[in-house]
Amino acid sequence: MTPASSPTTQPRGRRKVAVLGATGTVGQTFVRLLEDHPWFELAEVAASERTAGRTYGECVRWVTRGQMPASVVDKKVLTCDPAVVSSDVVFSALDSSVAGEVETAFASAGKAVLSNAKNHRMAPDVPLVIAEVNPGHLRMLETQRRNRRWDGAIVTNGNCSSIVLALALAPIHQRFGITELFVSTMQAVSGAGYPGVASLDILGNVIPFIKDEEDKVENELRKFLGSLNGDEIVAAPITVSAHCNRVAVETGHTVCVSLRLRDRANVSEVENALREWCGADVARGLPSSPARPIELLDFPDRPQPRRDVTRGAGMTVSVGRVREDQLFDVKLVAMGDNVVRGAAGASVLNAELMVKCGLLPR
Ligand SMILES: NC(=O)c1ccc[n+]([C@@H]2O[C@H](COP(=O)([O-])OP(=O)(O)OC[C@H]3O[C@@H](n4cnc5c(N)ncnc54)[C@H](OP(=O)(O)O)[C@@H]3O)[C@@H](O)[C@H]2O)c1
Repeated sequence: MTPASSPTTQPRGRRKVAVLGATGTVGQTFVRLLEDHPWFELAEVAASERTAGRTYGECVRWVTRGQMPASVVDKKVLTCDPAVVSSDVVFSALDSSVAGEVETAFASAGKAVLSNAKNHRMAPDVPLVIAEVNPGHLRMLETQRRNRRWDGAIVTNGNCSSIVLALALAPIHQRFGITELFVSTMQAVSGAGYPGVASLDILGNVIPFIKDEEDKVENELRKFLGSLNGDEIVAAPITVSAHCNRVAVETGHTVCVSLRLRDRANVSEVENALREWCGADVARGLPSSPARPIELLDFPDRPQPRRDVTRGAGMTVSVGRVREDQLFDVKLVAMGDNVVRGAAGASVLNAELMVKCGLLPR
């Protein structure tokens, strides 16, 4: 069944799901977003051997918004072992040092894994999906199941900056074609997990290096905006140059982008493309879909993480300052919540999309 042509299915009863890496920054955000989710019931939480065996309330220092949901406080933290975790749908917020192996073990055991880690993102038969941008790439799961001889699935989210960037650029690329882009990121400390970057390193400072980040931004963007050709995702032919910086912001990654376009377009045409874009039809009206995946702001000094990061409950990417570029054609600024839109929220939305498309086990 192709994602784009599938009917909406009203799920009968909530599916039991687990979160792997439930104790970290992204894992806690999953726990928050899955509380009272209409389609999913958070049945299990899992983390490392260091933590397993204790209750979630005992071992987690809650660093995400609000309070720890009462429903999870007494849950026993399990090990990340498919023989121990019984849910057929697992959200992975695992550290990349273990995510590759653990996620493969879960998919081999027939489970659907929605991963936030980098390990499988660029594998040719693994869909790297933003629900509103490239839902059709989920068709790669047929190839993946054939190649890997498993009934499970691995579907990945992008890096937190790549997701913000790809969402902001999808409407422009779809209408005018982007051929070259230069991007400089200002990435929040929550992007480094907990406890993450030491305060003495980041307060009053900018760190112009985040390990592997520039490669991720450059390659993942091309995969997101690429096209599916039979058994292959053909990367979008865009030359990308990325600079990635860590800044003293708690939540919200900002990207400053200059673009060269294949088809000529002026600033107001680019603004209209952004304003009118609602994303793929199949991704609209899902429980985690924001009313608008992108919001174009008219203020001269926005977007700003402090003022705009909660738009669309963290699922909307804010775009502003669209203007002519003297070197390229157009430049703009985009900003989004790295932990919600750039991680857990995007994964939950992908899982909802998979339910709608009949791609998740019951
Ligand atoms: N933070 C973001 O904005 C963001 C955005 C996009 C993607 N990501 C990716 O999402 C993943 C999680 O990021 P994070 O920021 O939440 O990191 P984090 O706060 O450091 O959390 C890491 C999680 O992995 C678990 N873990 C570590 N070693 C393990 C092991 N050997 N076996 C099983 N579990 C283990 C930890 O459990 P213990 O508590 O038991 O150690 C913890 O639950 C990473 O792959 C990251 O690159 C993060």
